[in-house]
Amino acid sequence: MRIEAFDATQHDRKEFESGNAKLDEYLQRHLSQGVKKGIVQAYVAVDDNGKVLGYYTLSAAHILHDDFPESVAKKLPRYPVPAALLGRMATDLKARQSGLHIGSKLLIHAMKQTLKAGSTLGVACIVVDAKPEAVGFYRRFEFLPLKQEDGLRLYLSVDTIRKMQR
Ligand SMILES: CC(C)(COP(=O)(O)OP(=O)(O)OC[C@H]1O[C@@H](n2cnc3c(N)ncnc32)[C@H](O)[C@@H]1OP(=O)(O)O)[C@@H](O)C(=O)NCCC(=O)NCCS
Repeated sequence: MRIEAFDATQHDRKEFESGNAKLDEYLQRHLSQGVKKGIVQAYVAVDDNGKVLGYYTLSAAHILHDDFPESVAKKLPRYPVPAALLGRMATDLKARQSGLHIGSKLLIHAMKQTLKAGSTLGVACIVVDAKPEAVGFYRRFEFLPLKQEDGLRLYLSVDTIRKMQR
């Protein structure tokens, strides 16, 4: 299994099934346009035949100052904080049985890409609007809730990613 930038001409995604039909349809029908238009950048985990086992997207975003928990907000300037949005992420149901921990590997890859982006422009966090059933997955990686009432918008600071890498 390897992780690489999505290439609509190379990556076979016909049979991808994550258990979430919208995420499957996005990969199969809409992702290539999003990449072409520069709205998202996408990365896929693929097997030796180029079959997609998982994917995620990243885009530029920001987090409003007042959305951070008070203890964090008071240490930040009072304007929006630049972030990388993990817009979509899913792994194939069958591939999940493989024990390869594809979701974890993709998420760690996304963290590294966020650090990389931060070397060319300001990026302070990675943020995700988690599906309710996936909150536990992100919390395992130290993602923390922002102040949204539903508790589904989670973030991880670049500082924390750097500490995790040490
Ligand atoms: C969420 C998702 C991407 C995780 O991918 P995955 O390939 O199952 O992840 P991994 O195998 O690396 O799992 C790592 C660990 O997290 C756990 N985990 C996986 N999904 C979890 C979840 N939804 N909640 C809590 N823990 C979860 C695994 O059990 C595993 O634990 P272990 O190390 O003790 O075995 C995948 O389940 C998925 O595609 N779900 C459907 C779509 C979805 O909800 N996407 C998220 C959109 S925000």
